[in-house]
Formats: sequence, structure tokens, C-alpha cells
Amino acid sequence: MWEAPDRLDGGNASPSPDGGVTVVDRAADLSARLDRARADGFIVGLVPTMGALHQGHLSLVRRAADECDVVAVTVFVNPLQFASAQDLATYPRMLDTDLAVVSEGGGHIVFAPSVAEMYPTPATTPVPALPAGRFRVLTDVYEGMSRPGHFAGVAEVVARLFRAAGPCRAYFGEKDWQQLLVVRAMVDDRSLPVDVVACPTVRDPDGLACSSRNGRLSSVERRAALALSGALAGAAALVDAGERDPIVVRRHLTDAVAGEPLVGLDYAAVVRADDLAPLDRLAGEVRLLLAATVGGTRLIDNVGVTVTAQTSRQDQRRSA
Ligand code: PAJ
Repeated sequence: MWEAPDRLDGGNASPSPDGGVTVVDRAADLSARLDRARADGFIVGLVPTMGALHQGHLSLVRRAADECDVVAVTVFVNPLQFASAQDLATYPRMLDTDLAVVSEGGGHIVFAPSVAEMYPTPATTPVPALPAGRFRVLTDVYEGMSRPGHFAGVAEVVARLFRAAGPCRAYFGEKDWQQLLVVRAMVDDRSLPVDVVACPTVRDPDGLACSSRNGRLSSVERRAALALSGALAGAAALVDAGERDPIVVRRHLTDAVAGEPLVGLDYAAVVRADDLAPLDRLAGEVRLLLAATVGGTRLIDNVGVTVTAQTSRQDQRRSA
């Protein structure tokens, strides 16, 4: 295992309060450290985040630490992917607690750049420096439709983080299913030397998907927010029980969310998992997507279901 602190050699690294994690704020510094690690034969893991780290992020860091020798976690609230200045301004920032989470997960480096470091020339408007085709198809629907420019901003910062990190395994959560597909499409389109690893969604014991935004929910809103995971679990159970009509499954989602007055539905979708294509009939890998606002907080969640041609999963389980 690579021992990050022993290999420090000045630059802009600052000692971390918990001693185990090295904080760097310059892309060139991150690149130099990771280049050196690769030259020594080590596998590099990268976990891009916007900080306010929770159990979901922790699971990504742990997985990266299990599978890689050197783990760099990036903490950067990316202005390009926020449509609302207010949302950007109120996004939680807590680097000290983040360092403790990275340390707990076995991470070695935290890259926490300033906006000027990531965007040396002021970039206030997202520039989609990406080819059309698969990327465009993925970015214009669902989250992309509700948050114009969002995925261009995500792709821009992720491309810059990948460039700074160099060849690596990069860990992303299924919680942001569409983002995962967008990042994969970008890596394919640009033939980047990055292995994208998908990690399952981590939930609180009551089912709510962990999110940096959950802290903004009042206790009443938090209870109401369970309508999302509840709707998804109910719809998945419907598919498990043999339902194959996407309209019926989608109606289950919308009805379940409508039953909770504090929750305002943005979209509910039942789509093919690997490209978000609409389906006439459920088959193969299917993803159920939900986005809604609870009070002033926007939340997204999704689940996957596998539908075989002949039998429902329940039938398969029964016959197993
Ligand atoms: P952020 O919302 O901080 O999420 C960072 C990573 O953690 C993403 O890959 C996300 O899918 C994953 N994640 C979040 N909640 C999770 C959960 N409950 N279970 C599992 N994984 C979870 O996503 C972003 O930041 C940004 O868009 C970023 C990719 C960093 C680009 O700015």
C-alpha cells in the first residue's frame, strides 16, 4: 500500500488535521503525485465529489481503497453545474469533516482546488466541449431537461479532474444514474484512460438515499421525502410481480408521490438502463427514475430492475 504522507515533498500540500490524508489545492501537484505513484507501479483510484461527504461518498472511498493503491478524493463545488446562484451559495461546505470521512474510508489525498484553479479563465457559461451523439441524447432528457446546462458543467469539471488525475479507476454512484451514463459516454467519446466504476446507492435505514442535500430537510420534510424511495420500491415490486407495462409502472410512481402533499414531482420515468431510452414493454435492465422537490430541496433517486424475457424475478427466485 502506498503511504502518501511519507512521499510528500512540499508543493502546496498542507498537513491534514487527522494526519492521514494529504490535502492539495493545485492540479499540477495532484498530477505530479499520481504520476509518481503510477511510475512506482501503483493503481490510482479517483473519487470526484462536491464535498459534504456522507455514507454514500464513504462507500465510494472504501471501494476505491479496496481496489486501488492510492486513492484521491476531489472536493470541489463546481459552479458550472449549478443553474441557481442561490443553490450554489447554499451548497454545504465542510472540508474538515470531509477529511475525517476520507480518512475513515482509507483515502490518501484530498484535492480541494479553488474555482480559479479549476477555471483559470473565467468560465461562467458551461461550454459543452463534447461531441453530439450519445452524449447529447443523454444530456437533454430528465435531469438535463430540468437543469439546462447541468451535464455540460458536470462533464467539463469531470474532464478536467480526469486530466489532472491521469490514468485511473474513477468511482461514481448509481444514485446519480444519468450522471454515471454521461460520464461513461464522455470517457468513451474521448477515449480517456479512465475505468469508470459504478457503486450502488447507499440509503439511510428508512430507505432515504443519502444525499448532501438531505441536511436541508426539516424533520417533517425528511419524513415526506421517504415518498421517493417508497414509490420506487413499490414500483420495483410491481415489476417483480410480473408487471411489464411501463405506463402502469410509471403511474404507480406518480400516484405514490402524489399521495405525499409536501412532495412536488418533477419527473418519473421508466427507461432502458444503459441509455435512458423509453420502453414499450419492460425487458432487460430497466431503471426507474424520480426527481422531486420537498419543501425547497430538490431530490433525485432511482432503482434498477432486471426483467427477463420469460419470467419475472419473483418466478426466478421461486424456481431457484
Ligand atoms: P456529489 O453529489 O458530491 O457526489 C459525488 C459522488 O458520490 C457521485 O458519484 C454520486 O453519485 C455519489 N453519491 C452521492 N450520493 C450517493 C449515495 N447515496 N450512494 C452512493 N453514491 C452516492 O455528483 C457529484 O458530486 C458531482 O456532480 C461531481 C461528479 C463531483 C462533479 O462535480
